[in-house]
Amino acid sequence: MTIYAVVNTKGGVGKTTTAVHLATMLAKSGKSLLIDGDPQASAASWAAWRRDTEHETSPTTTCLTGKAILSEGKGLASGFAHTVVDAGGRDSAGLRAALLLANVAIIPVGASNLDAAAMTDLLEIVELAKEYNPDLIVKVLMTRIDPRTKDAGDMLAFLAEQKLSVLRTTVCERVAYRRATGEGAIVHEVAKGKDKSAIEEMNNFYDEVVNGN
Ligand SMILES: Nc1ncnc2c1ncn2[C@@H]1O[C@H](COP(=O)(O)OP(=O)(O)OP(=O)(O)O)[C@@H](O)[C@H]1O
Ligand SMILES: [Mg+2]
Repeated sequence: MTIYAVVNTKGGVGKTTTAVHLATMLAKSGKSLLIDGDPQASAASWAAWRRDTEHETSPTTTCLTGKAILSEGKGLASGFAHTVVDAGGRDSAGLRAALLLANVAIIPVGASNLDAAAMTDLLEIVELAKEYNPDLIVKVLMTRIDPRTKDAGDMLAFLAEQKLSVLRTTVCERVAYRRATGEGAIVHEVAKGKDKSAIEEMNNFYDEVVNGN
């Protein structure tokens, strides 16, 4: 049983997109729970849209906020093979609880100076969580990258300075992600205009995070 927390204090970096993809891909290999830990409940909206579709395997989705992510999340997660928490942006109690509950923290980050500046806060929270949850594995996922710029390279250098472990897989800015989540789907499932590159990115991400490849 592995519990993944997708976290960042910064908004709009792709936390919900990452969380719904991971939880849905995990659902294909065992019962998967998606905890929406964001009071804005974007993952829950996604799940509601998904219920109107024919997609076969779905995670079970539930909403928890603040400390309940740890206290209730623990019991709930024990009934599932995999759990993914979408930890809301600014709710620090929920964010801390998610980091105490998790085995693996995934930090999606964009490649701007604002993303780098926002990391300082988050890293303090992660360090604190590690005092209570020393086995927590922390992985950074570069998201919403524009491959035409050298921003990603600059961000990688910054993350290396922070001694953070960065996943090899990089997620580019692609319409497919916005479309898929807006349909209650993941990029593999969209009916029209499948984006092979987006599917490959998500498969590589899964393989790296779940299978350690
Ligand atoms: N790789 C991507 N390419 C294009 N659009 C993306 C990508 N990832 C996310 N988006 C879009 O960017 C917006 C923010 O993404 P998402 O909701 O996943 O971020 P978030 O970190 O959960 O945001 P919030 O802090 O508001 O919860 C959404 O409209 C989403 O569809
Ligand atoms: Mg979100």
